[in-house]
Amino acid sequence: MKSEVTIRPERSGDVDAIRELVRSAFSGMPYAEGDEPELVDALRAGHALSLSLVAERRGTIVGHVAFSPAHAPDGTPDWYALGPLAVLPAHQRRGIGSMLVRAGLEAVSGLGARGCILTGDPSYYSRFGFRLSPGSAPPGQPPEFFMVNLLRGHLPDGPIRFHAAFGGDA
Ligand SMILES: CC(C)(COP(=O)(O)OP(=O)(O)OC[C@H]1O[C@@H](n2cnc3c(N)ncnc32)[C@H](O)[C@@H]1OP(=O)(O)O)[C@@H](O)C(=O)NCCC(=O)NCCS
Repeated sequence: MKSEVTIRPERSGDVDAIRELVRSAFSGMPYAEGDEPELVDALRAGHALSLSLVAERRGTIVGHVAFSPAHAPDGTPDWYALGPLAVLPAHQRRGIGSMLVRAGLEAVSGLGARGCILTGDPSYYSRFGFRLSPGSAPPGQPPEFFMVNLLRGHLPDGPIRFHAAFGGDA
């Protein structure tokens, strides 16, 4: 099954399919904010979609992950945020989400990333090298779900913030 899946950067014709798949994946999830599909659009419109990868299977887009710039408290560049990550419900639990995360981390490492942040389930993201880092959580983000994957260098003291498109104080 995984061998039928290709990971590639988004193309201009993918925008509607990405929005619909993100909507479908997050629909009804208790932790969903409801604005995940629009978040991808807002990042793209704000030139903050540093990396947008899709998983394609037999000509259909079945998964997507977004990476955007994040802001370290010491001003060091090259921090990224992962999310949203979404796989169509009928295609979940087949390794597609993992393929997207691993391909994305490799790509941002190639861009010189120091690290990557996210708010997510530790039981899922720890397998990719993310570690809980409550002291790095920005205001408004739940510290118990705030994770950092340090790719090089050291972790700066203080909150690492998401792009403004994420809303709130993040
Ligand atoms: C989270 C998501 C992207 C994972 O994609 P996927 O292709 O199903 O994931 P994979 O097949 O690579 O990994 C499956 C593994 O992740 C686990 N898993 C899947 N979703 C999980 C979740 N929300 N929390 C914890 N573990 C999860 C499965 O139990 C499975 O574990 P196992 O390998 O030990 O059996 C997908 O379930 C999804 O789109 N969910 C709805 C949107 C969402 O929650 N996005 C992430 C927000 S932080």
